[in-house]
Amino acid sequence: MRNTTATQPLFDFSAPGRRATEFPAAAVPTKSLADLIPAGALAKEPPPLPELAEADIVRHFVNLSTLNMCVDTHFYPLGSCTMKYNPKRHERLSRLPGIVDLHPHATEDDSQGMLAILYEMQQMLAEIAGLPAVSLQPAAGAQGEFTALLTAAAYFRDRGEKRTKVLFPSSAHGTNPASAALAGFDCVQLPPTNTGFVDLKQLQAELDESTAVFMVTNPNTLGLFEKEIATISKMLHDVGGLVYIDGANMNAIVGVTRPGDFGGDMMHYNVHKTFTGPHGAGGPGSGPIAVRDFLGDYLPGPVIQKTETPSGVRYSLVTPKKSIGRVRSFSGNVGILLRGAFYLRTLGAAGVREMTEQAILNANYMKARLQDVLPVPQGELCMHEFVASAKKLKDEAGVTAMDIAKRLLDYGFHAPTVYFPLVVPEALMIEPTETESKQTLDAFIDAVKEIVVEDPDMLHEAPHTTSVRRPDEVGAARNPVFCNTACGPT
Ligand SMILES: Cc1ncc(COP(=O)(O)O)c(C=O)c1O
Repeated sequence: MRNTTATQPLFDFSAPGRRATEFPAAAVPTKSLADLIPAGALAKEPPPLPELAEADIVRHFVNLSTLNMCVDTHFYPLGSCTMKYNPKRHERLSRLPGIVDLHPHATEDDSQGMLAILYEMQQMLAEIAGLPAVSLQPAAGAQGEFTALLTAAAYFRDRGEKRTKVLFPSSAHGTNPASAALAGFDCVQLPPTNTGFVDLKQLQAELDESTAVFMVTNPNTLGLFEKEIATISKMLHDVGGLVYIDGANMNAIVGVTRPGDFGGDMMHYNVHKTFTGPHGAGGPGSGPIAVRDFLGDYLPGPVIQKTETPSGVRYSLVTPKKSIGRVRSFSGNVGILLRGAFYLRTLGAAGVREMTEQAILNANYMKARLQDVLPVPQGELCMHEFVASAKKLKDEAGVTAMDIAKRLLDYGFHAPTVYFPLVVPEALMIEPTETESKQTLDAFIDAVKEIVVEDPDMLHEAPHTTSVRRPDEVGAARNPVFCNTACGPT
């Protein structure tokens, strides 16, 4: 019989009086709870907690932790998410006592070491972006977008310009319009094109003196580099607008080209993706932004400043002159920023370029080998990822992108991103990252080639080997049940 310890509620193992540990009798006189806590604050009944032995608890959680996939256990080609391996060395460094024991409220004097690392990170991000002013505060890419748009709004307000429109291509990530709307702008979506690139004519038609920002992901969400980005930037600048580069796909360009060099005025990083902060399941993230010098005064504060004094170097927290205020406590999600800083230090300038080149090579290798079963409608060569389509397979055999994704779980691979971007029918967005070997890529390719000729009826029911099969994904997201019914009302 299969061991179901991992998926059964701990309440099932509860027995009255069972304990993980026993406390020795107190060597001092004891008092009852009623003597220590006012009657009105005392619960009438003890909380309904399971009573368990230590082994039950440990086995339950250890088994539970193995039911999901992660980059330490499986190949995880989740397009747009850059699920690269997180080096353990940087985990260890970020947990050094001098780092973890530093209280966020420690004085500037006592935090000089931490501020030095964060200052260096700020400078490295400025250098990689080609944009000199950086705020480390935003806690994710989406918050970076929102923060940069608030920064742009403050800049236009200060100049007395009433610019209301934010434009973006239809292939944009959903967070782009969401951030623009939240920052108070009107959203204008450019219609999809057949090529996958921004259509310059359509863009020109929307540009006027009310245009504030054009948001564009480069390489775009189809994994293609927007070759006309310099022209696009000039078009925006000619009407007084700004260009926002969504940096989610920086893994394809770090060390090769820079958003600031191809005309971007603002950008965010996803440190958790490009620079290996462990992520997945919604966090933790870090989305610092980099902007041009004329926008620097509006950034959220504080930022970290370095001053050379006769007695040595001093790092301090300063608020830019016209700052939009804080968007996150302290200096952002420091745990992830540190891992990113150590990663960049480990690789160095030559290393990050190699990282990028390898990511592009891996994606193109997979694209070329999968092309016969999963064609890629847009682009001959891709950057660090590509978007294949299962449309032909669906038309001919009724097998969908979702069927393939779910069946891959049975083969021991995390699924690619599916149904994004919306401009590709039956989309499977595959991002292998640079950290995978040719053997791993080949194993995944072989699995896909086996899956596409399997019995469609069996595929519709996949996965067959996981503890959870096909949940109602919308229902699970909209009405999550976090609590087992045994522990009372949710
Ligand atoms: C293109 C793009 N932009 C923005 C984001 C938002 O980043 P985050 O998830 O860190 O908020 C993502 C996340 O997947 C993305 O792929």
